[in-house]
Formats: sequence, structure tokens, C-alpha cells
Amino acid sequence: MLTAQKISKSYKNNRRKILDSYEITIEEGEFVAVMGESGSGKSTLLAVLAGILDPDEGQVLLEGRNLNSMSDEELSEIHRKKIGYVPQSNFFLKNYTILENIVEPFLGADDDETILIDNAKRHLERLGIADLSDRFPHELSGGEQKRAALARALLTEPVILIADEPTTGLDTETGGIILSYLSEYVRAGHAVLVATHDDHVRDYADRIIDIKKETGLHGVSS
Ligand SMILES: Nc1ncnc2c1ncn2[C@@H]1O[C@H](COP(=O)(O)OP(=O)(O)OP(=O)(O)O)[C@@H](O)[C@H]1O
Ligand SMILES: [Mg+2]
Repeated sequence: MLTAQKISKSYKNNRRKILDSYEITIEEGEFVAVMGESGSGKSTLLAVLAGILDPDEGQVLLEGRNLNSMSDEELSEIHRKKIGYVPQSNFFLKNYTILENIVEPFLGADDDETILIDNAKRHLERLGIADLSDRFPHELSGGEQKRAALARALLTEPVILIADEPTTGLDTETGGIILSYLSEYVRAGHAVLVATHDDHVRDYADRIIDIKKETGLHGVSS
């Protein structure tokens, strides 16, 4: 469903290739975790696979469509409907409540606001932060913001959820709630890709990709 074809990526000020002609396919029903030390390239890989960052070479296809040759409009439609992306750092509009922050990116001519709000509340409930929906972002802890960001990314039931460090900074119990929820999402026929340092993820993931700082990722992913 999501396929990377020979993707390469390095940053200008750093000759090291984080991705070197790397190939990976993620299918529906798969929970994939990327692990590796800080600076090894986990966030880079996730951003490239999410179509947030273009690879230097190669391409990323979602359901056969090349994310790297799409117009901004097509790509933002993909990000509204098909790929849920949670970046490593949370981004919220500070003058909007959590509920407004979650729903706002999806309000458009073809979206029913009532359904979006109901869905948002359902996710917040399951993630244990239903009582925080009317608060402003700065009134939430880091872990609560992380869960709100996840609720936003799941709102339109994307085929794949790509979440960068979804449980970092959370206690084991709260992290467990999130990981169970993501597992359930996978079992319902979606795909989940996370980057993490959290060893608990090993109990939930079907596949672990280990990325090393010295070598990055190359060849075909197992
Ligand atoms: N925009 C950028 N410009 C230049 N170098 C970058 C940029 N973003 C990341 N890097 C470098 O690329 C490497 C990989 O970064 P990345 O954020 O992908 O690592 P990571 O595995 O997610 O680390 P962490 O566990 O700390 O989040 C690092 O050496 C980082 O300094
Ligand atoms: Mg990172």
C-alpha cells in the first residue's frame, strides 16, 4: 500500500546518507516500528514516507500514486484523508482549544463538522483525555498534547498512521493505552508506522526496522 522505491536522502551540511537506495513496502494490517539511536534518521525516514520531505532520489507511492510528483493540493488532500502524520514535536494553534485544533484542519466543503467532532471526542475518550477537549494547548502536559496530536491524525481514519515517537515521555501505563489503541487500529485493517526508543513497542509491532547511525538504511527492507 505504501511503497518506497530506491529512496536516498542526505542533508546538505552532512555527507552521510541516511537513506541509500532504500526500499520498503508497508501493507494494511501491519504495525511497523523504526528504532535506533538519536540522530540515526528515524524522523527523516518517517517524514519521507509521509510525503512531508522529498527524497533526493527515488519515490514514495501510496496506493500506486507517487507522492513526490503531486501538486500541493493533491498532497494536502492525501494528508487530510489517507496519511495521518504525527511529527515528533507537537504543533497546535495556541488560541484554539484542543477540540478545535483537532477538527480545524479537516473542515471543508465535503466534511460534516458534527461527524468530525463526534469522532474527535471518541478518540479523546479512548486516549484518556476526553475531559481536556475545551482546554488550550498550553494547559496540557507534553504527554496529553501527544495524545491530542494522535487523535487529530486519526480523525479521518487514514489508511496509514505515521507517528514519530508516540509514547516518548509517557509513563508505561499511558504508553500502553496508546500502543493498544494503535494495535486495534492495525487490526481494523489500517497500517501503523512509528519511530520510537520505547522498548514496549516491541511487544506490539509486527516488524522492527533497526536504523544505525553509521550506515543508515540501504537495500530492501526485510
Ligand atoms: N533539516 C536538517 N538539516 C540538516 N541536518 C538534519 C536536518 N534534520 C535532521 N538532520 C540530521 O540528520 C540526522 C538524522 O536526524 P533525525 O531527526 O532523522 O534523527 P532521529 O533518529 O529521529 O533522532 P531522534 O531520536 O533524536 O529524534 C541527524 O544527524 C540530524 O542532525
Ligand atoms: Mg526523531
